[in-house]
Amino acid sequence: MKLLEFSNGDLLPILGLGTWKSKKGEVYNAVKAAIKAGYRHIDCAPIYGNEAEVGKALHESFDEGIIERKDIWITSKLWNDSHAREHVEPALQKTLDDLQLDYLDLYLIHWPVALKKGVNMAHSGSDFLSLQDVPLIETWTAMEDVKDKDLTKHIGVSNFNVEHLKTIIDQGKDRPEMNQIELHPYLQQNEVVKFCKDEHILLTAYSPLGSSDRPDALKADNEPVLLEDPAILQLAREKNASPAQILIAWSVNRDIAVIPKSVNEQRINENYESSQIELTDGEMEKLAQLDKGMRYVTGEFWTMKDSPYTLEDIWG
Ligand code: A2P
Repeated sequence: MKLLEFSNGDLLPILGLGTWKSKKGEVYNAVKAAIKAGYRHIDCAPIYGNEAEVGKALHESFDEGIIERKDIWITSKLWNDSHAREHVEPALQKTLDDLQLDYLDLYLIHWPVALKKGVNMAHSGSDFLSLQDVPLIETWTAMEDVKDKDLTKHIGVSNFNVEHLKTIIDQGKDRPEMNQIELHPYLQQNEVVKFCKDEHILLTAYSPLGSSDRPDALKADNEPVLLEDPAILQLAREKNASPAQILIAWSVNRDIAVIPKSVNEQRINENYESSQIELTDGEMEKLAQLDKGMRYVTGEFWTMKDSPYTLEDIWG
């Protein structure tokens, strides 16, 4: 398994298990199956509503001596309703309690979007706080504080565009060490990827398989299905691999961490094995041609009437 190196030498296994959309009652078995398969990186967030169940699977795995805490990388994220300075540490503490951990390996600001305390998803413009109300640098300073208290080893961001990243780099004490964004052959994000690589910010690809299990409300009519793309299917046949394995290998080949979600043991194993697949330069060039700049996670749920955010603010 390829590892990505942080500036202090810490190593992140490039392939992790995603848990967005993993239902309660399913995510426990998924985490157990993933650890059994060899995964040593689990991606979590409180908004996924399942951290306590992930925590149960982790705790049992430690208790049973299957793995030690130091041998597995756990990422979680600060939800949008806790951007105010005084809310960051309690939010992280709740995640640690649910995951039954003393520290995280990586804690990310989930979105460059702030909501009022207690709001999970926005229903009207009055649910939001603007970035004038709670500037990203205020949230970032609180992230630095929880890192200084050793509640997390590393801090970073998610869904940040180049301008957001520059704000933090220019004004922060610590630099963001990770940006987790949607990345797959239909959304290659070459500009933000280049900026992050130039600035030594690691990347994680979310929705690497096209997230076809997300709620219908988040889906466009007749959206293209990444796992059924003819070029991906053909390459999969040529490489004697599955389409999902090709998509995972694409990120690994770009030195970008990747967190496919599955709650199915067979697919969890299949996805794990994709880290063995090598793609040639010619194969990567063919995949590069699939870029459509197409987001499955459009962010439109942050841009309703009277919201202080526009899609331009979010994606640049
Ligand atoms: P399941 O959890 O039943 O395996 P993403 O990671 O882009 O959000 O995609 C997750 C979706 O892809 C889920 O519907 C998941 O279903 C499905 N999935 C995960 N692994 C595979 C695979 N190897 N082949 C086909 N579908 C997969």
